[in-house]
Amino acid sequence: MTEPFGTDIWGKFIPLAEWGPLVDEYLQDPAKGPIVNIAPPEVDDREYDAIFIGGGAAGRFGSAFLRARGGRQLVIDKWPFLGGSCPHEACVPHHVFSEAARMLDYARLMSNKYWCEDYENVKKRASILAIRDGFLRSRGAAHGIMNFQSKEQLNMEYVLNAEAKVVEAAGPDGLFGVEAAGRIFKAKNLVLAIGARPTAPDVPGTGLKGVVNFATMLDPEWLDFEPNRCVVIGGGKTAIEYGSFFQATGCSTTILTRSQLMRTKGLIHVDEDMRLWVENAMKRRGIDIHDNSEPVSIDGVDRVSGVTYRDMTTHEQFTVECDMVFLGTGETPLSDQFATLGLDLDAKGHILVDKTMQTSVPGVYACGDMIPGAREMFKARKSGVTAARNIMGEYTEYEHENYPDFLHSTYEVVWTGLSEEEARQQYSNVVTIKLPPDGVSREDSALPVGDGSMFFALEGMGEAGLLKSVIDGDSRKILGLQFVAFGVRNAFQYLDYLIHKWPGGFTADQMADVNELFLNEGYPQLHRLRVGGALRDL
Ligand SMILES: Cc1cc2nc3c(=O)[nH]c(=O)nc-3n(C[C@H](O)[C@H](O)[C@H](O)COP(=O)(O)OP(=O)(O)OC[C@H]3O[C@@H](n4cnc5c(N)ncnc54)[C@H](O)[C@@H]3O)c2cc1C
Ligand SMILES: NC(=O)c1ccc[n+]([C@@H]2O[C@H](COP(=O)([O-])OP(=O)(O)OC[C@H]3O[C@@H](n4cnc5c(N)ncnc54)[C@H](OP(=O)(O)O)[C@@H]3O)[C@@H](O)[C@H]2O)c1
Repeated sequence: MTEPFGTDIWGKFIPLAEWGPLVDEYLQDPAKGPIVNIAPPEVDDREYDAIFIGGGAAGRFGSAFLRARGGRQLVIDKWPFLGGSCPHEACVPHHVFSEAARMLDYARLMSNKYWCEDYENVKKRASILAIRDGFLRSRGAAHGIMNFQSKEQLNMEYVLNAEAKVVEAAGPDGLFGVEAAGRIFKAKNLVLAIGARPTAPDVPGTGLKGVVNFATMLDPEWLDFEPNRCVVIGGGKTAIEYGSFFQATGCSTTILTRSQLMRTKGLIHVDEDMRLWVENAMKRRGIDIHDNSEPVSIDGVDRVSGVTYRDMTTHEQFTVECDMVFLGTGETPLSDQFATLGLDLDAKGHILVDKTMQTSVPGVYACGDMIPGAREMFKARKSGVTAARNIMGEYTEYEHENYPDFLHSTYEVVWTGLSEEEARQQYSNVVTIKLPPDGVSREDSALPVGDGSMFFALEGMGEAGLLKSVIDGDSRKILGLQFVAFGVRNAFQYLDYLIHKWPGGFTADQMADVNELFLNEGYPQLHRLRVGGALRDL
């Protein structure tokens, strides 16, 4: 492994400002070959403790952790940057689009009020392409930071812009072989972390011009026109987030979903009050939502002109006209690339792992979107780190059973713990604290109000949001929290931790003891109003 190949950057300092344009060059011309940051033998001649195949959230965090534990790692990625799909095509653009949706929603609701222009009736449209292209212009910088930090600060070894293939299961030397960029690399362990790719429904027409998913809509050659009428297929996070964005820009949107919105298989612990608040707020904004509906065909000759769908109860068929179809129909793990290893998989193709992230093949670990469970960044990062710890001999288990969850509509929608329905199945004395309270319409309640909804409250729009706390009235433990509004997502990271990890559980009394940074979302003060005696609904 001494001969240089590709662009050897070992020992060369590339300033952060140069990394972004460099990554963009490689993205435009992948044939430029690999970017190689490998220590020469005179610097480090140890065998690799692990090769991480895929340098997304799972592979990069695992790699960094293994290095920090004194091990030697190599991470190989087919893209010319580390960080994976999150900054490239998933979380980061989703947050850009969701922030645009929120700002546009605000502009519409506040039309002609205070300093606000008449967005709703005069301006009417925002350009989806302009927002998308703004993201694309800045994307190289996000990628550059990952490459810079991984090299200069985390001391990771990497080969980028090179697809990796496992060519040798552990041989007589006990080492695995991985081929990338025309070279074979050897390691004591493998960590598989190449993620998942979008799945299209098995109906005619998915290849028509104008049919996009979260990844292809970022391709200026694929989405090269300003859509005016969109059909979104799916009812999970991606469908809700991108559907809310399209509608907010003024692109009239219909959502076709088999399950009810937010009652899809991938979403758990969803409270019905919260779900209905989200769905009704989307409908108030003009999104046409049809559940119990499955696609039959995506119609059109060269480009899409509509979607034909079937009511799953009556089997009646309907057609909605459109010029863009957005597929929010989930993802499939890329496990087939490792078929030769003979790994145990679940029915959906996820690689099965034990609590240490080891697969059915000793020495082979898997993490991130390739393994069952929530496809979220926390799981990708924590599972990568768990694999690294175990490889370095520090026995560590990770189970991703309890976690806070969120999505965006034009609101932040955040939840943790049990829904009210789930709590009532398990506990006999369930108490709820809610804003707006039961029996009060949203129009009559300016609350919950906080940063981001002050003007909704001022104008009596009934758009402030929803707050809910589900408590076991006997033990006084908080069982679940739900919130639809703004600015509480970070708080839920810690509330979730307290609910699930605080010894004996986190009680309404402890919530009441929290020093709120008033004016805040309302949980501490509402619990304080109720904890003097026996808990009752509020
Ligand atoms: C639209 C959307 C929005 C999302 N928003 C959020 C969010 O807001 N918050 C959140 O927590 N999660 C979000 N997620 C989920 C999150 O993006 C994923 O859970 C996370 O990126 C998974 O990380 P990973 O490392 O497992 O996979 P990836 O990040 O996909 O990394 C896999 C890497 O493997 C590389 N690779 C593939 N094949 C090969 C090969 N043969 N050889 C070498 N390298 C290869 C790829 O280039 C890639 O870099 C979102 C997902 C989507 C689809
Ligand atoms: N944190 C975030 O904000 C965020 C944002 C976006 C995505 N993500 C993650 O990324 C992953 C992908 O999200 P996602 O919303 O795309 O996927 P998802 O949660 O798997 O939902 C897929 C949706 O598509 C539907 N569907 C699947 N196949 C279909 C078909 N053949 N015909 C019609 N409908 C079909 C499903 O319906 P049924 O449920 O009825 O089968 C469901 O509504 C998820 O794991 C998610 O957690 C996270």
